[in-house]
Amino acid sequence: MTDQLASLRRHSIVVADSGDIDAVARWKPQDATTNPSLLLAAAGDERYRRLVEDAVARGQGGAEATMDWLFVNFGREILRHIAGRVSTEVDARLSFDGEGSIARARRLIGLYESAGVARERVLIKLASTWEGIRAAERLEREGIHCNLTLLFSFAQAAACADAGVTLVSPFVGRIYDWYKAARKLDDIPLAEDPGVASVTRIYRYYKKFGYATQVMGASFRKTGQILALAGCDLLTIAPELLEQLAATPGEVERRLAPDKSAAIERVTLDEKGFRWMHNEDQMAVEKLSEGIRRFYADARKLEQRVGALVRERRAA
Ligand code: E4P
Repeated sequence: MTDQLASLRRHSIVVADSGDIDAVARWKPQDATTNPSLLLAAAGDERYRRLVEDAVARGQGGAEATMDWLFVNFGREILRHIAGRVSTEVDARLSFDGEGSIARARRLIGLYESAGVARERVLIKLASTWEGIRAAERLEREGIHCNLTLLFSFAQAAACADAGVTLVSPFVGRIYDWYKAARKLDDIPLAEDPGVASVTRIYRYYKKFGYATQVMGASFRKTGQILALAGCDLLTIAPELLEQLAATPGEVERRLAPDKSAAIERVTLDEKGFRWMHNEDQMAVEKLSEGIRRFYADARKLEQRVGALVRERRAA
């Protein structure tokens, strides 16, 4: 009898959401995603110390250069175990700085290419702010493919699709967390899960209007949320949940499929319209700003850890 992970792979591309290279090697996903929090955890792991030390050596004492090499080193190592693409996130402090984001993305891609990795195998992850979406639009024209993350509102999803970005990562778990806290509940049943509903709505909208942008459900709290989105283009899943899916026997039924006849209205947003519509969604406003703060804080912790290594090296 098949297991849920094997069965899910027949409906959606399974992606590993982890900086843990051994976990990626074990689960053999097609793609993999990282973020500053995941890399903070992985960089503290003794198994990957050589990647951090190599970044310190290549960064030649520069904090930004060392961080870039650190992200690229983890990305390169992950790519050795997968056939597809790795997502590497641009520093969250650039979330409202379009030019800064473009420069950083070009630099990351330049480092990957200097290490022999083709740009087609990398997705540059940017926060789905207005500035991030506009930066992605320009990067895509240069053949730098983007994954728009921290996506919580329909306004963000509609703007990303019109910008022609390669892929979006609408979050499920963080939406679920927000509504659970707001409603003072211990759980929200899957049929009413607002995170699952958000991804479903985005998927249906993209397919109805024929957008090429891929939808990758992200940020899961329980396997039921993943299974409720079977059929979504991609699903990025943490190793613990991959483990649970693989350990559970059973067939997974496809839940999402393109439907051109769905009764959905087209939404076209200029900057004012985007900001207004996003701002009307309190959950999305809070989760986007909190997400940026969290990724920023974790990147700074990583920078401090790397800084200590740079100083150790100088003193040696
Ligand atoms: C994906 O792009 C995100 O990095 C990830 O799924 C976030 O998950 P979390 O909400 O569990 O941190």
